[in-house]
Amino acid sequence: MDLTEHAAQVRNNAYAPYSNFKVGAAIRSASGAVFVGCNVENVAYPEGTCAEAGAIAAMVAAGETEIAEVAVIADSPTPVPPCGGCRQKLAEFGRGDVKVTLATTDGQRLTMEISALLPGAFGAEHMEKD
Ligand code: THU
Repeated sequence: MDLTEHAAQVRNNAYAPYSNFKVGAAIRSASGAVFVGCNVENVAYPEGTCAEAGAIAAMVAAGETEIAEVAVIADSPTPVPPCGGCRQKLAEFGRGDVKVTLATTDGQRLTMEISALLPGAFGAEHMEKD
């Protein structure tokens, strides 16, 4: 199954009673396995978590730390962009050339690389002097 289809399927399980904006995310890891996540909101709004964060957590819990490909989908007027925090989370586990497909439920697709989503990313090298 196409990675965007995995994202669309898990989006049905999103818990988004406050925003009514359901998001699904799917990650293909280096091993080829697929991990999915959806947004999970909370009545204490800042406690909600994004779909991408859920998919990353599932991948790491399974013992993998290398993202090969990502898909994110929502019922959005244009392909849904990951929030700033999720861009940093994706950059933690995916190289700059990893492709992220942003999708809408009505069939629009936009593919971007992590390096374009987070130019000038903060990385471990910025903590090293000499
Ligand atoms: N959301 C995601 O899950 N991923 C994104 O990339 C954008 C935003 C969620 C968070 C919140 O539950 C809802 O969408 C509205 O912001």
